Amino acid sequence: MLIDGHGRTVNYLRVSVTERCNFRCQYCMPEKPFSWVPKENLLSFEELFLFMKVAMDEGVNKIRITGGEPLLREGLDTFIKMINDYQPDVDLALTTNAFLLPQTAQKLKDAGLKRVNISLDSLKPKVAHHIAQKDVLAQVLLGIDKALEVGLGVKINMVPMKGINDDEILDIIDYCIERKIKVRFIEYMENSHASKSIEGMHGREILEKVKERHTIKALGREGASPSFNYVLDNGYEFGLIDPHKHDFCENCNRIRLTAEGNLIPCLYFDEALSIASSVKKGDIQGAADVLAQVLKDKPKENRWIEGELEEGQEVSTRAFYETGG
Ligand code: GTP
Ligand code: 5AD
Ligand code: SF4
Repeated sequence: MLIDGHGRTVNYLRVSVTERCNFRCQYCMPEKPFSWVPKENLLSFEELFLFMKVAMDEGVNKIRITGGEPLLREGLDTFIKMINDYQPDVDLALTTNAFLLPQTAQKLKDAGLKRVNISLDSLKPKVAHHIAQKDVLAQVLLGIDKALEVGLGVKINMVPMKGINDDEILDIIDYCIERKIKVRFIEYMENSHASKSIEGMHGREILEKVKERHTIKALGREGASPSFNYVLDNGYEFGLIDPHKHDFCENCNRIRLTAEGNLIPCLYFDEALSIASSVKKGDIQGAADVLAQVLKDKPKENRWIEGELEEGQEVSTRAFYETGG
């Protein structure tokens, strides 16, 4: 079992397979980064998998593939099959913008993928275009339908932003009710890579919008999930991911691995240790030692704060496209 320096059990590994993306979301990667990680610095699937086996052997039973946009990395279905063949009971999921799902969903499902979490920030073509800086909506909606058709579990992620898509919270709920899928509203997490003009919505404001049409009841968190769940009068359940309140950090069960082999203890902080040289040599003990160090140093909580920054406080400089959120 993996236990961190604060006594929390870590059983969830998020693996980013590329930082590249075919969208330029305002809250993540509004501009192409100055440079991408050179191809030769990316770990191969075999190298990533070597570390993942160490983690699975130590009790990791939940794995999420992220990016950038993970579907841009060639051979992803083979990678998924490697993981599924090794540990068929692992909760194996993918977070994607869905643009490439129409043509890949069946292959991914056949390889052993169980679930997808899909970003859907607007149901209006022009607004979706404004957010992703590309005409994406029709293809994303097709991707969601295809994922459902092939039998993948589907959840929707929406980041509500003031003056951009804050008037669509109720419409997204209706869309998800119709398809019997869960939506999680995510508070915008300030970071130095995002568009400066974004103003996120506080969880409380998101709930106010939902209450304009529904009566809601709080259900609580599902285990260590960052999502706090609510149920509507009609029985529909949705979630709110509210990192500005740090209470889910208390039960944090996750670490992140980037495509170049950096092991990241917390989404907020830049700190990371590399497993690259160990896995390139096939040094399992070396990788396990780095893992132990990262767990020992895992921060107690993130530092997103409500309202104005406190004195001396800087916005997080960790790029979401490196970790996939
Ligand atoms: P499920 O297993 O389906 O609950 O997945 P998930 O919520 O862990 O995964 P997903 O990739 O859909 O994440 C949803 C959002 O939650 C993303 O915006 C993440 O950035 C955010 N999130 C996930 N883990 C953390 C975390 O440890 N800290 C913070 N602050 N946000 C997180
Ligand atoms: N704040 C909140 N959520 C974000 N995501 C990406 N960047 C941010 C941010 N700055 C979300 C996307 C995606 C998930 C992986 O992370 O909406 O659903
Ligand atoms: Fe790409 Fe996802 Fe970042 Fe949008 S949020 S730019 S889809 S990685």
